[in-house]
Amino acid sequence: MTNSKDWQTLYINVNLATMTDGSNSYGEITQAALAISNGKIAWLGKESDLPADFSEKDNDVEVIDGKGQWLTPGLIDCHTHLVYGGNRANEFEMRLQGKSYQEIANAGGGIVSTVTATRKASEEELLASALPRLTALHQQGVTTVEIKSGYGLDTVNEIKMLKVAGLLADELPVTIKRTFLGAHALPTEYKDNAEGYLDLVCDEMLPQVVNENLADAVDVFCEGIGFSLEQTKRVFDAAQSHNLPIKVHAEQLSNLGASELAANYDALSSDHIEFLDEAGIKAMKKSGMTAVLLPGAFYFLRETQLPPIELLRKHQVPMAVATDANPGTSPIHNIHLMLNMACTLFKLTPSEALAGITCYGAKALGLTESKGQLAVGYDADIALWKIEQPAELCYQFGVNPLAALYQAGKRVI
Ligand code: NIG
Ligand code: FE
Repeated sequence: MTNSKDWQTLYINVNLATMTDGSNSYGEITQAALAISNGKIAWLGKESDLPADFSEKDNDVEVIDGKGQWLTPGLIDCHTHLVYGGNRANEFEMRLQGKSYQEIANAGGGIVSTVTATRKASEEELLASALPRLTALHQQGVTTVEIKSGYGLDTVNEIKMLKVAGLLADELPVTIKRTFLGAHALPTEYKDNAEGYLDLVCDEMLPQVVNENLADAVDVFCEGIGFSLEQTKRVFDAAQSHNLPIKVHAEQLSNLGASELAANYDALSSDHIEFLDEAGIKAMKKSGMTAVLLPGAFYFLRETQLPPIELLRKHQVPMAVATDANPGTSPIHNIHLMLNMACTLFKLTPSEALAGITCYGAKALGLTESKGQLAVGYDADIALWKIEQPAELCYQFGVNPLAALYQAGKRVI
C-alpha cells in the first residue's frame, strides 16, 4: 500500500465492481473509496476503512464524490480486426439473399476482398477509417483493445496494418495490443500454393514483425476456408521460436481440433469456438487457456451452433467476450451490445459477461497481473458508470451510462 500522502485522486461515495473474483461475482464493495497514485490503484475498500491518518487537508489529493455510482475496471476488447480498408455491405446483401459466408469466400469474396481494399489504402487512410471505430469503443469505456493484422497478406501490407494499429495509441488514450494474423487467408497470388504462402508468413513476415517489435502475439484462422491443422502447426512453431504467445481462430464453422493443438503450445486463447468439444475444453483447461466468445460474429452470420458454455463452466475455463470488430462477420463496434448478446444469445450471467470484458479479457491478452481488475497495484484504468447495479451494463444498450473514464490514472473522459 502506498502512503496516502502520495494519492493524486480519491473517489469516495462509490460502489466498486472489482471483478477480482473471476466470473463468480462482481466482487462488489459498496459504500467504498478508491485511491489512485502514479497511474496505479493505490488503495480501495470500504470508505469507513480509509486510513486513519488520511486527511484531505494534508494531501494534494483531488477528492471526487462518486455519488453512489459504480466503478469498474476499464473495459477490454481482446479480439478485434478494426484496421481495414473498404467494407463488405455488398456481401451482407448477398448473404441476405441466401449465399453463405463460406460460399462467398470460396467465390473470391470474403477476407480477400477486404485484402484488396486494405492493400490499396495508405497508412493515413487506414488510420482515418480505424479512428472512428476505436473512438466508439473508447467512448463506451474501453481502455484496452487488441487489434489483429490479416488483411494485408503480404509483408509490406501486414506491416502497414500493424504500424497503423500502433499509431492509434497516439490518437486516443487506449492501450493497444497487436496480434500478427498473417495466416488469416490465402491471398489470390498464392491461391494454389498454401505451403509457399506459409513460407512467406513464417520465414519473412514474422521475423520482420518481430524485428520491428510490431506484435504481442500470433494468431491463425484454422478452418476449412482458412488453414488446416498441419498448416496452423507450422505457424505456431514459428511463433514459438520467436517467443511470441499464440492465439487462434478455432472451431468457428467446424471442429478441426485447433483449440487442442493450441493448448499444446500454451496458447493464450482460443476464439469463436462454437464447435469446440469436451476434449478441446479439457486441453484448454489443462494449459490455462481462455475461451474468447464472439457473439457479434455468431449473430451477424446467423449461426445456430452455440458455443459449449455449460461445458466451459463445468471445466472452469475462463470465458472472455469481445466484439471481433471486422468488416465481414462482425461490423460491430459496440462492447455494451456484446455484453447484452453474451447474455441473451449465449446465456452467460451478467457477472460472467462483465468478467469477459474485464478480468478474463485481460487474461486472453496475457495481462492478468496489470489490467482488468480493481485491485491495489493494478493499472488505474477505471470506468465510472451512472448505474444502480452492475447488471445494468448488460441489460441495456444504446444509452451510454459512462460518467468518467481513467487510463493509467489520468481522466480521459
Ligand atoms: O473473426 N474468422 C475469421 N476472421 C474474422 C472474419 C474476417 C472477415 O470475414 O473479414 C472473424 O470472424
Ligand atoms: Fe476474428
